[in-house]
Amino acid sequence: MTLPDLVVRPRRLRSGAGIRSLVRETTLSTADFIYPVFVDETITEAVAVASMPGVSRIPLSQVDQCANEVAELGIPGIIFFGIPAEKDAIGSSGWDDQGIVQRAIRAAKAACPELLAIADTCFCEYTNHGHCGVLHGEDVDNDATLLNLQKEAVSYARAGIDVIAPSGMMDGTIAAIRMALDAEGFTNIPIMSYAVKYASGYFGPFRDAADSTPSFGDRATYQMDPANRREAILEAKLDAEQGADILMVKPALAYMDIIREVKDATMLPMAVYNVSGEYAMVKAAAEKGWIDERRVVLETMLGFKRAGADMILSYHAKDVARWLREDRR
Ligand code: PBG
Ligand code: ZN
Repeated sequence: MTLPDLVVRPRRLRSGAGIRSLVRETTLSTADFIYPVFVDETITEAVAVASMPGVSRIPLSQVDQCANEVAELGIPGIIFFGIPAEKDAIGSSGWDDQGIVQRAIRAAKAACPELLAIADTCFCEYTNHGHCGVLHGEDVDNDATLLNLQKEAVSYARAGIDVIAPSGMMDGTIAAIRMALDAEGFTNIPIMSYAVKYASGYFGPFRDAADSTPSFGDRATYQMDPANRREAILEAKLDAEQGADILMVKPALAYMDIIREVKDATMLPMAVYNVSGEYAMVKAAAEKGWIDERRVVLETMLGFKRAGADMILSYHAKDVARWLREDRR
């Protein structure tokens, strides 16, 4: 038997590191990352989050040090989540100018003005029932929550926030926040919308970290059904029409198809959130010695970029920055 006459041989372009690097289609850079930070008003020392090895809640006094560390690694931004001392039914500490996130923003910007400070803008950490807004009976009242989101966003803006990131999946959020920011003169603060956010089991470790598990029910009346893809395009388009500057898909790993489809359906930059449960799974397997953490994390992040992400929110961001720096040596 003779072999076929092969003209096209893809292996030619895999024959060495140099040629592979020239034909590489996607790259990963430290400049693609945003690092999530939990700031806890009730502590004076950092407290490790058990289900997220390597992640801690930090007190306000450590925000400057944290911001400096992230900036020195070359990561362009951090996103704050606040754990307030006081919670109530409407989440009013979310729009207190002396609230924990407002003070964290001021501390971070004072320590490190070039580092982008982003604020997750929601109410689940601030309400005593753990839902993402004001309740009407057992359901979250959409339009009453919008009024509070406007106050929260403006308060963050007054504190010096660089980007507002609403995560509560209330209808009309982007229009409401854009109007409120513009009315107060904050026309240049971009909105990174958690436009496509699914009701996901992957948020479990985060809810331990942020103390935001709903005390009853779940978030299925506002977060999306994991079964739906056309609805993702609808949500993305609605947020783009309302003036979102950046669209996010969340979670990331189980939604790679959605990342690609949203990317192709809109012209806006795309963020993906590599969420707490995705992080916890990798950490657990790595601790057991079952996977090569560095290799698996870098491969996953590259996958997000290939799927269409322009930026990645990840608890792995500091490790990724260190690994990419080592690779350059
Ligand atoms: C708040 C919010 C959540 C996350 C980001 N913002 C939790 C939730 O919706 O329950 C999850 C982030 C993660 O799992 O890492 N709405
Ligand atoms: Zn929320």
